[in-house]
Amino acid sequence: MNKSVSTTPYQDQKPGTSGLRKKVPVFQQPNYAENFIQSIFDSLEGYQGKCLVIGGDGRYYNREVIQKAIKMAAANGFGKVMVGKGGILSTPAASHIIRKYKAFGGIILSASHNPGGPTEDFGIKYNVNNGGPAPEKITDAIYARTKVIDSYKIADFPDVNLDRIGKEELPGGMMLSVIDSVEDYTALMEELFDFGAIRNLISLGFRIAFDAMSAVTGPYAKEIFENRLGAPLGSVRNFMPLPDFGGHHPDPNPVHCKELYDEMMGDDAPDFGAASDGDGDRNLIVGRGIFVTPSDSLAILAANANLAPGYSGGLAGIARSMPTSGAADRVAEKRGIGMYETPTGWKFFGNLLDAGMATICGEESAGTGSNHVREKDGLWAVLLWLNILAVRGESVQDVVTQHWQTYGRNYYSRHDYEGVDTDAANVLIDNLRSQLSTLPGKTFGVLTVEKADDFAYHDPVDKSVSEHQGIRILFTGGSRVVFRLSGTGTSGATLRVYLERYEPDSTRHNIETQEALADLIAAAESIADIRKRTGRDAPSVIT
Ligand code: G6P
Ligand code: ZN
Repeated sequence: MNKSVSTTPYQDQKPGTSGLRKKVPVFQQPNYAENFIQSIFDSLEGYQGKCLVIGGDGRYYNREVIQKAIKMAAANGFGKVMVGKGGILSTPAASHIIRKYKAFGGIILSASHNPGGPTEDFGIKYNVNNGGPAPEKITDAIYARTKVIDSYKIADFPDVNLDRIGKEELPGGMMLSVIDSVEDYTALMEELFDFGAIRNLISLGFRIAFDAMSAVTGPYAKEIFENRLGAPLGSVRNFMPLPDFGGHHPDPNPVHCKELYDEMMGDDAPDFGAASDGDGDRNLIVGRGIFVTPSDSLAILAANANLAPGYSGGLAGIARSMPTSGAADRVAEKRGIGMYETPTGWKFFGNLLDAGMATICGEESAGTGSNHVREKDGLWAVLLWLNILAVRGESVQDVVTQHWQTYGRNYYSRHDYEGVDTDAANVLIDNLRSQLSTLPGKTFGVLTVEKADDFAYHDPVDKSVSEHQGIRILFTGGSRVVFRLSGTGTSGATLRVYLERYEPDSTRHNIETQEALADLIAAAESIADIRKRTGRDAPSVIT
């Protein structure tokens, strides 16, 4: 029944910011996915007889790998596998299922916001029993195992039917449960948010437009916004999950969500626009005539979360990744609650959430979430916004400008240089590192460097240390530039330059963002020599 298949290791299976991501043809090499999945199992202990959740964002190659994973789970001794119908589970929904059904862990198949299709991206990620991405201790062990693996175990029963909801015992005894992908998640959202208030707002004519980007949130958004909240048919667009996301880049930002963005800036804009990414954990929030930066969104959600039933008792604390703007810090300060600054990557929030130190977390990369699951959650962010707007009875624009008036505005932008030569990108970062001790005191135009460092995180819960998490150049007056290389790309290197300036004066809150940051942009160029070292005249994407 079960076979042990001999294999040779691949040397390139190092998990990045969020699991192993490669182009589909790389995953299609003989035993490539099998080696990685077996390396996951080999790095775990105590799963015999336990439950494994498997789900993916429906991208190209999803079904094939799910079949492999089910057969391998059976051969390795799991007692049960729970899988979303059609192999579909959004990342936050998978996190919820792991928690709700007390599973041992989960395998999530996704490359998040990266394009899908036969020559595009695929990914495999392991989540632990708290529902969150495996911590580095485990991902390091998985990587070490991939380098020496010489065999994997797989059951040889035929492919299972992923499209019929229900339970069945597979040959060999493992239980397979195919579940409705949407039901449990929707129930959780109904517990956290005042659906009645949102339904009422919508019934009064408040118009929403949600772009599912032909990705995983389509079925969730249809059920929640149209069926349960009464938004008119058509409020959710691109709701059919497609293996290639309709040829689009399923990343919810003003660049890749251009159509919705332009509509929201136009004359007949709906009241509220939103979108989510390939696997449903990122979000875009845009009001009529105003884009809400993810960093501002985190701060505003944190400041108003108590208006939603799930957070009426207030927040224990807020956490943000280091490159995310300090806007949320001002909320935490005013409320007298904890504020935590972690490296990029949702996995770093897990310990803080588990320990009850943080309730809401967010990242500049369009991720926001809370202790309800252990992943960021796109629809959660959209629903919390809607709940807040329903209770306050104000527009997105009003809520944002009032927030700036109260707390000051953190002008913020990220400049990405994509597909840069890897060696050149490493040299650029090394060069910055070598300047760290000599930068303080230097001036760049009107800016003076106060402090420069290579961010290291000391986890207050498990005391682990993560070094080299980004170069920070802090200027007097609170402005800063952060440089880091993306950990999620699949070709070449992506240099990210994060720019931030704090402006307390509300008469100066309406400057165009790039203009407000012009001094910092110039300083970043002189310090890092970006143009010369990358060979690029301008960033590929500005968000
Ligand atoms: C994924 C992770 C996030 C992270 C983002 C950007 O979405 O889940 O936690 O912030 O990637 O990572 P990168 O390394 O590309 O900047
Ligand atoms: Zn994602």
